Amino acid sequence: MSESQTSSKLAQTWTGFVGWVDERFPLTETFEYHMSKYYAPKNFNFWYVFGVLSIVVLVMQLLTGIWLTMNYVPSGEAAFASVEYIMREVEYGWLLRYLHSTGASAFFVVVYLHMFRGLMYGSYRKPRELLWLIGMAIFVCLMAEGFFGYLLPWGNMSYWGAQVIVSLVGAIPLIGPDLMEWVRGDFLMSGITLNRFFALHVVALPLVLVMLVFVHIVALHHVGSNNPDGIEIKQNKDANGIPRDGIPFHPHYTIGHDLPAVVIFLFVFCAVVFYAPEMGGYFLEKPNFEEANPLKTPEHIAPVWYYTPYYAMLRATTYPFLGIAAKFWGLVVMAGAIVLPAVLPWLDRSPVRSIRYKGMYSKVMLAILVFSFFILGYLGTIPPSPEATLLAQVCTILYFAYFVLMPWYTRVEQCKPVPERVTGGHGAKAKLSEAGEASS
Ligand code: HEM
Repeated sequence: MSESQTSSKLAQTWTGFVGWVDERFPLTETFEYHMSKYYAPKNFNFWYVFGVLSIVVLVMQLLTGIWLTMNYVPSGEAAFASVEYIMREVEYGWLLRYLHSTGASAFFVVVYLHMFRGLMYGSYRKPRELLWLIGMAIFVCLMAEGFFGYLLPWGNMSYWGAQVIVSLVGAIPLIGPDLMEWVRGDFLMSGITLNRFFALHVVALPLVLVMLVFVHIVALHHVGSNNPDGIEIKQNKDANGIPRDGIPFHPHYTIGHDLPAVVIFLFVFCAVVFYAPEMGGYFLEKPNFEEANPLKTPEHIAPVWYYTPYYAMLRATTYPFLGIAAKFWGLVVMAGAIVLPAVLPWLDRSPVRSIRYKGMYSKVMLAILVFSFFILGYLGTIPPSPEATLLAQVCTILYFAYFVLMPWYTRVEQCKPVPERVTGGHGAKAKLSEAGEASS
């Protein structure tokens, strides 16, 4: 048989197989709906790679997590030693662990950038409110997942970090102390606490996360993607009902946009895993190389970098109010800062969606938000001092101002006119869609 005959035979077998599956399961239909006939705006840019990168990191965390669990022992007596065992004895155990610990930080890098893109281009606005809310649920779930996971190595920072956060529950008036005991399952952080955190980290939250990501994509493909211009491409369709400014997601974005992004991301990621897995104490903190010791507090307790902006807000809340301790209000401020973006769809009153056409106030406020978030992030890593606390208070107010003042500044500012069609696009891809349009 010649080469072409062999390949046509193979193609026939494949078509036959797909036909067999299609009669029993909507395989081709699903592929077309979500990939080859999903029309994405042709002007996606750099900021549109972080969704797919979040999926890559999620899968990596699930896989490395499963393999770590094979050798990890979730007990107060053996947890720390089992991590040492993974690092020294298990074949490639060190790689699995560094992939997982670096993956946790990478997850937050890509998710923060993904959320920032949403803020810039108004991706949370109608009709994507629910998509945004699902995203917020993912974010909260991810924070909890990271928190529970951090206790598992049973290092001294794991222990004391969890102790600080769990003790916040104790500051809730009336029910606090009982609730704290219920959360810990003991009178102090112990192996019992470690066991339940393990169950939540390894089974409960990953399940919830995967389900949420699934519905996130379902919601996205139902309403369609937004784009850097914030123009609804579905409002301008050709005679075949295809958006004029859309191009099939596959192969244009899968091959021309997401694949290169994944390759570049993996290069950078591997460089960190192989050359700087501790990242100077920011990814793996120094006190965590010592076993948990309830009698010895680390010199300075600080969470991992991705929680530090919120931790700085917690510490910046130093005033008791209504006769309730400042610690409780710190908890309120911190939780408020985390969930406040959820109401953005109802705070933004601008006639336009994207920052490209919004007025000066929106641009300045977004810059202030980012700036204060970074400063808070830094302040959360250093020991408290009166100057640092004052700066953190100012930055906390600025952070909240972005949200609280939004209904006002988005209404009064002067916006630019929004073009009818999306601007720019990816060279060859844009030309391709234009050529298609000219011929139709
Ligand atoms: C595990 C975490 C997450 C995964 C795997 C994920 C996945 C994705 C993917 C694949 C897309 C389409 C590609 C893209 O637009 O980049 C997307 C879009 C979107 N995501 Fe996420 N996401 C996650 C977390 C979040 C979070 C935390 C939020 C916000 C709170 C969010 C809000 C959005 C929005 C608004 C869109 C539509 C953006 C647009 O069309 O402009 N996502 N997500």
